[in-house]
Amino acid sequence: MSGQAAQAAAKKACGETGRGMNLRQLIAGNWKMNGLAADLAELEALKRGLAMAPACDVLVCPPASLLARAAEAAKGAFALGGQDCHAEARGAFTGDISAEMLKDAGASAVIVGHSERRQFHGERDQDVAAKARAAWRAGLMAIICIGETEAERDAGNAHPVCGGQIGGSVPKDATAANTAIAYEPVWAIGTGRTPSEADVVAMHAHIRRCVVERLGPIGRDVRILYGGSVKPSNARAILSLDDVNGALVGGASLKARDFLEIVGAGMPH
Ligand code: 13P
Repeated sequence: MSGQAAQAAAKKACGETGRGMNLRQLIAGNWKMNGLAADLAELEALKRGLAMAPACDVLVCPPASLLARAAEAAKGAFALGGQDCHAEARGAFTGDISAEMLKDAGASAVIVGHSERRQFHGERDQDVAAKARAAWRAGLMAIICIGETEAERDAGNAHPVCGGQIGGSVPKDATAANTAIAYEPVWAIGTGRTPSEADVVAMHAHIRRCVVERLGPIGRDVRILYGGSVKPSNARAILSLDDVNGALVGGASLKARDFLEIVGAGMPH
């Protein structure tokens, strides 16, 4: 069987789910507003720990202040990303950072629309979509975050809320190469609580359907990451679920030892 035929057969065998569809998992660390120069030692340790090529893609998003030095420390052992970017390439936007600046400092990706940006900086879906486009303009992959609040889940609205965020935040011309979606239930971030495995599977299947509806068949190859209290103790279980194509890790990405354990749970599909 040719490679193409084998891939088609594999796709048929697993329907529209991501598992088994050659989607290499992406394990991304989001340091948020944490990290001083001394913490670059964690990245050195991460590099040492990744000496044996991992089965998945590895990305760390340190604060912008450390990005250039982090790129030096990573030396190609893992990729680096920003945590946010402005939609414009340059201009009078005091305190902001552009996607081009992140790229210039060594980033290959940027997180956009994280719930902490939506909550504390009033970012709306259309702002997030503009930032995703800015990322592409600069040659960065956009990791577009979505997720429901606890009140929205309790009201039975988790699926429509996330579907609406995809419709508003993911530009229609997104591709699997330039975009990943991170599903981060707001109530699971930094709380130690995670959705049940059944809820993660149901939500990721829903997100897959929404992405395919929006982007067409290429939506099947867009990676959907889970984020929210991912730790060494639960990473393997989460990363083995259907249509979970990686993880976006906050607190547990700050220490190389923990993050390496999570990376070790990543799978090549
Ligand atoms: P925690 O892993 O600390 O819950 O954070 C998740 C997150 O917000 C990653 O972007």
